[in-house]
Amino acid sequence: MIKVTAPAKINLFLDILGRLDNGFHSLFMVMQSVDLCDEITVSKGNGGIALTCSDSRLPQDEKNIAYKAAAAFFKATDIQPDAVITVEKKIPFEAGLAGGSADAAAVIVGLDRLFGTNLTKQQMCDIGLTVGSDVPFCIRGGTCIAQNRGEILSEVKPLKDCYIVLAKPEKGVSTAAAFAAADSSYIYHPDSIRMLDACSNGDFEGICKYAGNVFEQVIEVVERVEIKDTMRECGALLYQMSGSGPTVFGIFEKEEDAQACASRLKESIADVYVTKPVGYGASVI
Ligand code: C5P
Repeated sequence: MIKVTAPAKINLFLDILGRLDNGFHSLFMVMQSVDLCDEITVSKGNGGIALTCSDSRLPQDEKNIAYKAAAAFFKATDIQPDAVITVEKKIPFEAGLAGGSADAAAVIVGLDRLFGTNLTKQQMCDIGLTVGSDVPFCIRGGTCIAQNRGEILSEVKPLKDCYIVLAKPEKGVSTAAAFAAADSSYIYHPDSIRMLDACSNGDFEGICKYAGNVFEQVIEVVERVEIKDTMRECGALLYQMSGSGPTVFGIFEKEEDAQACASRLKESIADVYVTKPVGYGASVI
């Protein structure tokens, strides 16, 4: 049996640049892995793909992205499907934290080890992209610029050690609906050049200053103002929505500030986590 840890991600930056010929959007993002992780196990069974997930609200069959990732792995490697997959959920879903993509990434990494296929990271990313745009980043992990659909990845300097509070309001957001809302709105574009410069130089202050997420302009999350207020009052250097939301993250230099912020947020928000940035994606443990 192979055990794989699957870190969540946040978007330090997310801009929509245009529409690609394949219908997807061309993006410019800065992605960061954090140590809020699902745990996936893969082992061989009696043929076929079987999946169980600790959260009964998620599909336990071929509709689950982790199942789709296994099917894509077997198709790409020409191996007869044979996998028993378990998914232990810690990352909230429909949260803007790539919880599903992290599971898919972990399945591909785990099956590569289980079957000794020795795929390169790029080959695994190529398989991952067939099931979701964020899967390649979830395989690579760390701190990356992500372009095009999200699959063109360039590593930048690791984010300085810090504490990242995640607060997930109850109501989930559909990514497809978020893109549709962005398509029908005028969008103000944040400064990607200055953000790129800050990331390339490992300039933490610059990253906090030039961060941005265009989905905040088109996705209403009622709790967002209150969450951001609390984060600011507790000393966050940056507070912003991740992905298409609804999760809001706050970045703190001091652990006590992050913990104090999390305690206050827990009075009104059920899902609150204190995390740290990590320099890896889906990894066998
Ligand atoms: O690839 P994924 O399944 O994560 O995409 C979820 C939704 O977001 C889809 O509706 C897809 O069209 C949209 N999307 C997009 N452009 C991207 C990534 C996702 O339009 N670069």
